[in-house]
Amino acid sequence: MRVLGIDTSCDETSVAVVEERRIVSGVVRGQDSLHQPFGGVVPEIASRAHVERMLPALDEVLGQEGAAEAVAVTNRPGLVGPLLVGLSAAKAFAYAHGLPLVGVHHLEAHVAAAYLLDPPPEPPFVALIASGGHTVLYEVPEPGRYVRLGQTTDDAAGECFDKCAAVLGLPYPGGPAIEKAARGGDPSALDLPRPLRNDPSDDFSFSGLKTAVLYRIKGQGKRRRDPDAAPYDVADVAAAVQEAIADVLTFKAVRAATRRGHRRLVLGGGVAANTRLRELATARAREAGLEIFVPPRALCTDNAAMVAVRGAELLAEGVRDGLDLDAMPYAE
Ligand code: KG4
Ligand code: ZN
Repeated sequence: MRVLGIDTSCDETSVAVVEERRIVSGVVRGQDSLHQPFGGVVPEIASRAHVERMLPALDEVLGQEGAAEAVAVTNRPGLVGPLLVGLSAAKAFAYAHGLPLVGVHHLEAHVAAAYLLDPPPEPPFVALIASGGHTVLYEVPEPGRYVRLGQTTDDAAGECFDKCAAVLGLPYPGGPAIEKAARGGDPSALDLPRPLRNDPSDDFSFSGLKTAVLYRIKGQGKRRRDPDAAPYDVADVAAAVQEAIADVLTFKAVRAATRRGHRRLVLGGGVAANTRLRELATARAREAGLEIFVPPRALCTDNAAMVAVRGAELLAEGVRDGLDLDAMPYAE
């Protein structure tokens, strides 16, 4: 089945057509330059930018490859204004062409991105999804079932990258900026906390890491940088932040897969685009005897192909949504 996927959950306008787990066509229109002056995504600006980009993106994708047979759209979780733009476009397209419509959970779509790999991972497996808004460990015991094992109790890993970058005066989005700044830095120059690393749960916590970086840079309890605070090297701090996040995420993901007796680990979400995280996850998975599946970077960050893949899974199960399908900011 040829599925049109649409994702507008945050600040990328993404449209793709996927058939049998093969990307027929796809576009991702970013908005980084619009949000950079504010140091983060401004929901109202994102919604308006989606409105401007949606029809040209649809034209481009469908112009390349003609008709779709079903429509899959991210309807949860995400920023409600941005979600509603994609949802309205999806409903209009499905209604006008008489096609089935299905709403997709954004994080399950991030897991399903790995199904675009050749060969794809076969369930059962554990998946680590680390993005700007979420950090979750999933178990996929069988095709189409997504069981949440644990999640962040405060900030998401990507949010921690973004906030630490802001403290260091680096641009939004912070993850790629920290990765670049970390080149040549010494990750052991700073001893940063690794909250919940050795906790028996599959949960995460990143807000303490951000606070430790803030205190190290600005001096304790100060709003502005304390003139007496010790000097620091941006490359060293960036490398230490990246190492701490990569260490906690990969350690707990490998442990979760091993503890449940699974042989496969999947990575996804924008933070999985990070080179150090990919290296460390690959090394630790191999050491533990796990097979690891890491999508190419463009399929780790937000894209609509992954939404079409998850949508195809739901459609094959017979799931259909009506035109009353709603956007939800939070979702289990
Ligand atoms: O999955 P995604 O594109 O959007 C959400 O669903 O949130 O993830 C965006 C997050 C941002 O926090 C961004 O800083 C982070 O992914 N990110 C990275 C890298 N590329 C994107 N973090 C670390 N290293 C990267 N190379
Ligand atoms: Zn995402």
